[in-house]
Amino acid sequence: MSAYLLASFAERRPSPEELTALTQLCFASYQGVVLPTSAHTAWFTFERPGFRPELCQAAWDGGDLVASLYVTRARLDVGGCTADFGLIDTVMTHPLHRRRGLARAVLERACERAAQAGLAGLLLYTQPGSPGFSLYQSLGFTVVASLWHWLREPMDGGAPGAWRRLDLTGQYSMWALLLEKARARYEGVPVPTEDLWRWRALRGPLAPQTAAWVHPDAQEPENLLLARRSSLTGGAEATVLKDLVLGPNAPLAALAPEIGREIPLLAVVDRQDTALAALLRGACFRPLQEEAIMLLPLSEPQVPARLAAAERPWFPLVESDIGV
Ligand SMILES: CC(C)(COP(=O)(O)OP(=O)(O)OC[C@H]1O[C@@H](n2cnc3c(N)ncnc32)[C@H](O)[C@@H]1OP(=O)(O)O)[C@@H](O)C(=O)NCCC(=O)NCCS
Repeated sequence: MSAYLLASFAERRPSPEELTALTQLCFASYQGVVLPTSAHTAWFTFERPGFRPELCQAAWDGGDLVASLYVTRARLDVGGCTADFGLIDTVMTHPLHRRRGLARAVLERACERAAQAGLAGLLLYTQPGSPGFSLYQSLGFTVVASLWHWLREPMDGGAPGAWRRLDLTGQYSMWALLLEKARARYEGVPVPTEDLWRWRALRGPLAPQTAAWVHPDAQEPENLLLARRSSLTGGAEATVLKDLVLGPNAPLAALAPEIGREIPLLAVVDRQDTALAALLRGACFRPLQEEAIMLLPLSEPQVPARLAAAERPWFPLVESDIGV
């Protein structure tokens, strides 16, 4: 360990090219993840609202980046309170430098810095049973939500129904209303800002592949969703559905043939969200793999108890295109 330099991105910032090369090396063997280009990394990391270089951490071996993680500051509604959390993602160590404590060291630094910054807690998404999972557990993270990835193989279907594709420009207030609706039902809903909307819907290399669909029969912005087409490891493509705040009778089975004729559809949904699971089943989706959301409370130690008492499903953000 002593040969390595540990530094935040504020102290020594890796380039998008260095981060991209390490991400590709570390995540290529994962099934169904988005492998970034440098433009994608620059957008996902440095241009993301809430990017805090002093919280993101890296390990260097001389001039080589050998481990890193990102932390984004995000204002979320959790357990009845609105607070600033740190979202950790893309935790990775170069294969030749593994099992030397680097991931643990960068995570410990991230936890320390996040506590100093007054964050309520740190959140991350990971697969139960993965090497990362036991590492996070050993640092005090616990599972606060269990998710399923749902997949729908491409197929023709019946009539596409009345869903309409919207131009994303100028839809911020619709999205803000959608999140308002989500807050009544879900945990972990972000506080909407125009900046966040622009970043996730209108900017970045995948923005041209992002569409919003709305069902005009809905009186309220309940039947709106985003769909983003992404290239995944193994040469596959999938359209990832985001921001699913659907009413119990949402005609999802009519939308699926419209956008899922040629490539698979993917959705990430809390296991407790039985209403949405029923809609997905009705639209020919099937559960594919599990994912867990883990939390390390910092300035708000009572968050896990409040979450357990609320018994509400989590609103998966699906911001991280790594592992969708
Ligand atoms: C997961 C990963 C970041 C671990 O990096 P690392 O620097 O080797 O981890 P560390 O040496 O700090 O190990 C810390 C702990 O992680 C766990 N761990 C790490 N690698 C493991 C493995 N292959 N199998 C089981 N547990 C493992 C162990 O609990 C370990 O503690 P120990 O060494 O005291 O037993 C690295 O294997 C990696 O980059 N994997 C591919 C990308 C990835 O899966 N990222 C996590 C996404 S959520």
